[in-house]
Amino acid sequence: MANNIDLSIDFCGITFINPFLLSSSPVSNSAEMVARAFEAGWSGVVFKTLNSDRLPIIHPSPRMHCVHYGSKKEMAVQNVEQISDRPLKDNLIDILYLKKHYPDHRIIASIMGFFEDEWVYLAKVAEDNGADMLELNFSCPHMCIEGSGHKVGQAFHLLERFTEAVKKNVSIPVMAKMTPNITDMTEPALYAKKGGADAISAINTVRGISEIGLDDFVPRPNVFGKGAISGTSGPAVKPIGLNFIASMAKCLELGLPLSGIGGIETWIDALEYILVGSSTIQVTTGIMHYGYGIVEDMIEGLGDYMARKGVTSVSQLVGKALPHLHETDHFDLERQGVTQYDVDRCIGCGQCYIVCRDAAGQAITWDGENRRPVLDENKCLSCMLCQFVCPVTDLITYKAMPRGWRRNETPVMDPSLEKEIQYEPFTKEGPNECTV
Ligand SMILES: Cc1cc2nc3c(=O)[nH]c(=O)nc-3n(C[C@H](O)[C@H](O)[C@H](O)COP(=O)(O)O)c2cc1C
Repeated sequence: MANNIDLSIDFCGITFINPFLLSSSPVSNSAEMVARAFEAGWSGVVFKTLNSDRLPIIHPSPRMHCVHYGSKKEMAVQNVEQISDRPLKDNLIDILYLKKHYPDHRIIASIMGFFEDEWVYLAKVAEDNGADMLELNFSCPHMCIEGSGHKVGQAFHLLERFTEAVKKNVSIPVMAKMTPNITDMTEPALYAKKGGADAISAINTVRGISEIGLDDFVPRPNVFGKGAISGTSGPAVKPIGLNFIASMAKCLELGLPLSGIGGIETWIDALEYILVGSSTIQVTTGIMHYGYGIVEDMIEGLGDYMARKGVTSVSQLVGKALPHLHETDHFDLERQGVTQYDVDRCIGCGQCYIVCRDAAGQAITWDGENRRPVLDENKCLSCMLCQFVCPVTDLITYKAMPRGWRRNETPVMDPSLEKEIQYEPFTKEGPNECTV
């Protein structure tokens, strides 16, 4: 509880004391770790994906690589880690321990089998040893064997079959974790629903290459001279995660509770996932960067926000942004705007002038004597590039123009070439709208 605000939320009929969970990964690898996370304030865990001990699990070394972007460390993390390399028995003992010592916290066991009997076996032992819920890992991005990991997430009938098999054999809720390495996630999510899934979680990591060695030519991480396309996580993937959660939340036919994952580091990231439809959120890379303590800021930030907004339950916030999310052809194109400058606060860096000149409408001339931008509103594209690069917060803002206002068209370079141009206007009939 922050500021006496109750952050608890119902997810698949189970009460979580707040929406903040560890996602399945190194941050949820053992009871010792998870216990410390619970003490820090996390309400639940999706335990690192259990394996059945049928195959030996050996992680490549090194198993991760990072993209730092400017001053931002761990903008993206790429990993080639496998599912849990711990013996199943040890993981089950840890789940039992957590269940026993943290009765108010929720334990979700992530499982991944390679065939039906293995899925069912893992589901049953996880339930028998205290898991409150299951997460089916249909999304590990570096599985090479057909019918496993993200390859199941891309083979919808298999996903449905494995979900159904698990559901038939357990009584706890089952959540299907989706791969983002796909175009439309609502499709596999609907197959998971057909198989009986009670909830959907997304996203797992996005397949990518984070860096290539310029001297040794090996994509990173360099595993003794070899690289591989593998899973990317962290702040860089947040827009992708929000897209998939929002798309599924808007799909009325789906109508399942969602657990949002991908690039969450702050209470604001978490809230954004909630606003597009997540009831719970899960975190890995944020913890790999800052540690379990980030949950304190999440609890306090969300609590303060709710107090400010007069909201009494997190569930009131779930999906709040969705009525404002439209297809682009719903935009009112009769409404246009321009930028406006509070030049008294300008420090004269000229960055706005450069980007407007080289990437936008050439709407700014540069007053070299005073080192100030001078805007011609009639040329402004309202692309907002100048605002994005301006180092002074809120110096450049958006101004809505009256309905029907239009900027001037960009003039051609040499109107005399009109006599030479080879061109017939396009006259065929087609769709009536163009929004791209
Ligand atoms: C090193 C590493 C190992 C992971 N292992 C698993 C795993 O065993 N099972 C799973 O479902 N997801 C696994 N994930 C994916 C995360 O649970 C999460 O879906 C993804 O990293 C996106 O969230 P983030 O941006 O907060 O990291 C792993 C991620 C990382 C970085």
